[in-house]
Amino acid sequence: MPAGARILIADDEANTLEGLRWALEGAGVAIQTAGDGEAAWRLVQSDPPDLLLTDLRMPKLDGMELLRRVRDAHPDTEVIVLTGHGTVESAVEAMKRGAVDYLIKPINIEELRITVQRVLDTARLRRENEDLRRQLDAKYGFENIIGQSQAMQQVFHQVRQVAPTRASVLIQGESGTGKELIAHAIHQNSPRRRQPFIAVNCGALSPTLLESELFGHERGAFTGADQRRKGRFELAHGGTLFLDEISEISLDLQVKLLRVLQEQAFERVGGTETLRIDIRVIAATNRDIDAMVREERFREDLFYRLNVVRIVVPPLREREEDIPLLANAFLREFSEINGKPLRPLSPKVIAALQAHRWPGNVRQLRNVIEGLVVMATGREITVKNLPPDLRDAAPHGRTIALPAGISMREAEKEIIRAALRETDGNRARAAKMLGLGRKTLYRKMDLYGLD
Ligand SMILES: Nc1ncnc2c1ncn2[C@@H]1O[C@H](COP(=O)(O)OP(=O)(O)OP(=O)(O)O)[C@@H](O)[C@H]1O
Ligand SMILES: [Mg+2]
Repeated sequence: MPAGARILIADDEANTLEGLRWALEGAGVAIQTAGDGEAAWRLVQSDPPDLLLTDLRMPKLDGMELLRRVRDAHPDTEVIVLTGHGTVESAVEAMKRGAVDYLIKPINIEELRITVQRVLDTARLRRENEDLRRQLDAKYGFENIIGQSQAMQQVFHQVRQVAPTRASVLIQGESGTGKELIAHAIHQNSPRRRQPFIAVNCGALSPTLLESELFGHERGAFTGADQRRKGRFELAHGGTLFLDEISEISLDLQVKLLRVLQEQAFERVGGTETLRIDIRVIAATNRDIDAMVREERFREDLFYRLNVVRIVVPPLREREEDIPLLANAFLREFSEINGKPLRPLSPKVIAALQAHRWPGNVRQLRNVIEGLVVMATGREITVKNLPPDLRDAAPHGRTIALPAGISMREAEKEIIRAALRETDGNRARAAKMLGLGRKTLYRKMDLYGLD
């Protein structure tokens, strides 16, 4: 018996109870017994077992009613019913009502052990599966996509709207902005979540390879095709197909893809049989695909098929307010992975991160933080630890806005104020940054009432 399993046996014959207990007892298995249905139900309620073995005919509460209650209130408890010769119909009835199996009296010990073992193993596998699914839901659910900015909130809103439908979605955004994460979130929040999510990077393969990757091929379709192979369309059946870097597919393949999307049918390369599929398509690109359509480098008809709903993911530099959240989340993630407890990032480090342009967007930020954590020696990451381009960006990178028509005096005041802010009020450094003598700075601060 699996260690740690908890089994409850209910039967009104004391001999049967003891016999069953003896047969199932073993290391790590906890067995309880009940002499009638009422007693069994009380035990189930106080601490539901993994498995209930119950006789059908019992005083006070019969096995069928006990089964009904357990199925209603404790879905994680499996039920096996025990029945006498000649009452197999009631065992069948019990199976219809949710018992996993039945055993006929007199009980064969070997059969009993095998059945109990199998039921407990299956239940454990099912629970593990559910755990994995929950982890997957959490990983690709919204909880894991970070973004407080207006722009990201807008993206989440769009994801929520479009996820339950089967509309095609075109996700546009610079490299590393999180397009794939969003594609996953759409799938994970759709009715297809339990079906496959299949990703294809259209930029990574030559046109011929991409075609056979998508469509699959029959044996002998081309040199080297020594076996039939399923393509990504087939693998994604019932689920979602994610076409990454869609702008990279050849015009020739664009025609073929269009047909699949229109007809939800295709043939394998070298095949004649038409295969029907049900797929939802999400495409992504970091290129200006509208311009490509205008320049006839991307087919307009295919574009309209893909672009039913468009989600634009803004670059990181346009949502500075997300940087502290992202950076600290990555810090926690990599601290844990590397077993290095680190303090949250200081305001100075955050300011330096916010001043950067992040051409590689969130991915780049994530990599930078990973590097910082790996190299960290103390409990804190300081500006000095930052890579040179980020360190230098710190004092100069931040911009201040001066309204047009402002007076020189007002402008000077704002510039001094910004310099003091950047140096955390260090006047000597602020003076140096501004190219002023220290005394001059003091005089001006006095004049403008800055402290
Ligand atoms: N909002 C976010 N919250 C948390 N992690 C994010 C977020 N956006 C992106 N990431 C992380 O950044 C990395 C890059 O994201 P992703 O691969 O989805 O980007 P992409 O837009 O598909 O990039 P590319 O165009 O280069 O394929 C991943 O590790 C992803 O988990
Ligand atoms: Mg991507």
